Amino acid sequence: MGKTSITRRTFVRAMGGAFGAVAAAGLPVSVLAARPRPTATRNPLFIPPTVSAAGYALGAAPATLSVQGQPRSVLAYNGYLPGPTFRASRGGSADVTLMNGLAQETTVHWHGMVVPPAADGHPRDAVAPGGTYSYQFAVNQRAALNWYHPHTHMLTGEQVALGLAGAFIVNDDEEAALALPSGAYEVPLVVRDANIDSSGALTYTAKSSGFLGKIPLVNGTQDAGLAVDTALYRFRVLCGSNARLFRLALSNGAPFAIIGNDGGLLAATAWESEIEIAPGERLDLLVDFRTLAVGTKVMLRDLNAGWDLLELTVARQVTDTTAVPASLSTIVPLGPPVTTREFSFDGMSRINGSVYDINRIDFEVPFGQTELWRFRTGGNAPHPVHVHGASFQVQRRTGGRGTIFSWERGWKDTVLLQDGETVEVLVRFDGFRGLYVMHCHKLEHEDMGMMANFVVV
Ligand code: C2O
Ligand code: CU
Repeated sequence: MGKTSITRRTFVRAMGGAFGAVAAAGLPVSVLAARPRPTATRNPLFIPPTVSAAGYALGAAPATLSVQGQPRSVLAYNGYLPGPTFRASRGGSADVTLMNGLAQETTVHWHGMVVPPAADGHPRDAVAPGGTYSYQFAVNQRAALNWYHPHTHMLTGEQVALGLAGAFIVNDDEEAALALPSGAYEVPLVVRDANIDSSGALTYTAKSSGFLGKIPLVNGTQDAGLAVDTALYRFRVLCGSNARLFRLALSNGAPFAIIGNDGGLLAATAWESEIEIAPGERLDLLVDFRTLAVGTKVMLRDLNAGWDLLELTVARQVTDTTAVPASLSTIVPLGPPVTTREFSFDGMSRINGSVYDINRIDFEVPFGQTELWRFRTGGNAPHPVHVHGASFQVQRRTGGRGTIFSWERGWKDTVLLQDGETVEVLVRFDGFRGLYVMHCHKLEHEDMGMMANFVVV
């Protein structure tokens, strides 16, 4: 299967509009010098190459990117930060061989993908330095933006913060029928924060309250800019930070048309001018530049930190008659639950009072049974709660913000728990039997033990 040769140049597909050539040339152009500049010159948004998941060799290794002629030391998948964007169609399959070029053990978890336990990247399936591991699974789920990252015992936060993460896009017929913006008009945006030292290296310091970087990166690019046409764009947003929450907004006050989230399309398009997302969560957004004059600049901002994330400059007049669909998909509600389980996220390292033990099975879930899972916290939030092995439907949030937001409808695999909140979800494991984990996706909490093993039986 040619699993030993790196094939990162195959299936390269430019998706970056005016800056697509950067991706096509395979240049790992990325982050820039670390000084905060209020009126920063913008740097072309890096678009990782798109590759097929059907047979791919994925190397995780230290890499030195060239950033405006300066070296930038990171950990990267095949030399890219973020890693290559996998694309697969429902009904297809994935066959990815990890080659661990790190000095530490690692795994690859396919966040949002329903895969057999052996392909889920559980910390028990750690790959030693120099080792390889074959991840093979059928792609049999809704179209969605999923992603991949290490899930290494007590080292996930470090490996992700230093650069290991990438997108995994699933397409299906239902999505194709909507004729959504594609090609250069479909842009992945991996939003995260980072720290960069004076030598140009990404750095990581574990902090029990969560790693908060001093600068934002979008697709690894600091002070990112993208030239856009007078067209409708589809932005596939992943919150890829370790701990930071982003409150996204456009500087011109225009609303986002939200068409999807973690688990794919919503039932109907929702319009919001501010959206808050937490580590692990995804958004599928349409943004309309058709009424804007050439030369107009619109900033994608993070209102929490007051950061300018991505400057969108209207650069070219085109005619685009793509419609924003009002109705998107049918979400079949999960039936009434057979069982209720309670999960208390305690302190910064415990679920239901217990610190994660890699060898302990915390509970068993019958295959195919609809259950209500109730998440609550004793403090130290935010806790973005993530479940492997199935998506869920958010039913109710009480306390705290006290509501379910439009971007939390449909199917989710990660839901934000703030202090004082109780969130109820319905979940049914009808993919595979075997060992999975659920955990806080603030990666420092995960690494300290806010995680549980469960077995679908
Ligand atoms: Cu994104 Cu268990 O992880
Ligand atoms: Cu937490």
